[in-house]
Amino acid sequence: MKILVKKANITKFKSEAVVVPLYEDAKELQGTTALLDKQSGGLIKEIIDRGDFEGKYLQVSVVYTKGDIPAKRIILVGMGKKADFTMDKMRCACATAARHVRSLKLKEFSTSLDFIYTDKPLDQIIQAVVEGVFLGLYQFTPFKTVDRDKITEIKEFILVEEKDETYKSILPAAKEAEIISNAVYFTRDMVSHPGNMMTPTDMANEARKVSLRKNVKLTIFDEAKIKKIGMNALAGVAKGSDEPARFIILEYLGGKKTAPVIALVGKGLTFDSGGICIKPPEKMDEMKSDMAGGAAVMGAIMAASDLKLKVNVVGLIPATENLPGGKACKPGDILKSLSGQTIEVVNTDAEGRLIMADALTYAGRYKPAVIVDLATLTGACIVALGNHVTGMMGTDDKLKQKIKDAADATGEKVWELPLWEEYHELIKSDVADYKNTGGRPGGAITAAAFLSKFVGNYPWVHLDIAGPAWLTENKPYIPKGASGVGVRLLVQFLKDWQKEANN
Ligand code: BES
Ligand code: MN
Ligand code: ZN
Repeated sequence: MKILVKKANITKFKSEAVVVPLYEDAKELQGTTALLDKQSGGLIKEIIDRGDFEGKYLQVSVVYTKGDIPAKRIILVGMGKKADFTMDKMRCACATAARHVRSLKLKEFSTSLDFIYTDKPLDQIIQAVVEGVFLGLYQFTPFKTVDRDKITEIKEFILVEEKDETYKSILPAAKEAEIISNAVYFTRDMVSHPGNMMTPTDMANEARKVSLRKNVKLTIFDEAKIKKIGMNALAGVAKGSDEPARFIILEYLGGKKTAPVIALVGKGLTFDSGGICIKPPEKMDEMKSDMAGGAAVMGAIMAASDLKLKVNVVGLIPATENLPGGKACKPGDILKSLSGQTIEVVNTDAEGRLIMADALTYAGRYKPAVIVDLATLTGACIVALGNHVTGMMGTDDKLKQKIKDAADATGEKVWELPLWEEYHELIKSDVADYKNTGGRPGGAITAAAFLSKFVGNYPWVHLDIAGPAWLTENKPYIPKGASGVGVRLLVQFLKDWQKEANN
């Protein structure tokens, strides 16, 4: 889909459909909405007066125009009560309208920011509108061969604005939102691909696509190199699989040479069967999404480069399968990690923390200002917080606050869990330095406590995205399946970082 910005009066603009968002408690139509109503012969007022459209959150009504205005349809979308308005509701409303337009098989639709009555800054509104439309229209169809002609796609979304000044500021903000949405698409596509088509080697090839961007450099460690430098925790997980592991390093240097590096570490487990401690078959297929953290890091670096952010970022992605082959790691095995510390593998299904441990230690080589990691790490985090929330644990309050701010701005919900001393007791091993599980109680936290042992002395935040990475039900701007969670959060975090660095 293309996004266009046109300088025109929306009441005189020719389009298959004009989307008009309306609040529930608006007593009467305001400004441009009132004008559109008047020009169209009172069609909007009529449907409201008859009680057929109340503006309830995500309600949609289609009004057919009769030649008074060039637009063929007015699509009303409810935004709920004005007092409850949030940017995320804006995203949801726009996504819902866009999906409705697609269900009508229309190829193009338009809207105007003049319709949106809020005191929020214009660039935020534009971002919410454009992201809502793009992200809501995502579909993953490369492997559908039957009835392909039934797959409908909108070709153009047009933002119409008459005022010169506003018109000029729309284009750059819309472009920025488009770049971010494309990065989310890139991540969703990777996560949507099944295990046989998104192996560690395939992930490295996707990283190569990112490295074609400006100021991005790619390094890939093969298995020999992984073993040679002592990443034996990563190598240990990879032993059960015939697919060779990869350690992917993407460096984006958009900031000053002397500026510190932000390290982003993402779990790239391309299929998690559980290994010797094999998972039950129900929902095992969803474990193709166990590389969502790594894919989010790659998407964020793609966006950082496309947005030309003045920051230095390194993305580190340990990529492997977790399978129960003849050489697979067994419960009780002891691995010597890159940090030199030893790990007793009491459960081969707690493999994410093993591969992340080595990657987190490797991050120390950059002497990073901060380390943020994303991993579909524990089912326990889903039990604790539900499917729509990322669990956050970490060592640095300032960094945690920055992540919370980015979460508020993007609507990617994050909730902090504690990392108290008591939890660290639970991962002590009788025979090695640590064991890789601390039992069921506080499972998301003991996993983070384990990771903390490998981080070194850098400000660090761990984001457990096991819940939101893969959805089993549609949400307005996240169709079920791969969500691309983390991309928008990380990009916002990098944008905020750039802003702070330049102040
Ligand atoms: N990849 C899983 C975590 C997961 C579960 C992600 C469900 C998304 C949805 C992880 O490797 C895992 O298997 N964790 C175990 C840890 C346990 C053995 C201590 C878990 O959560 O059951
Ligand atoms: Mn596992
Ligand atoms: Zn896993």
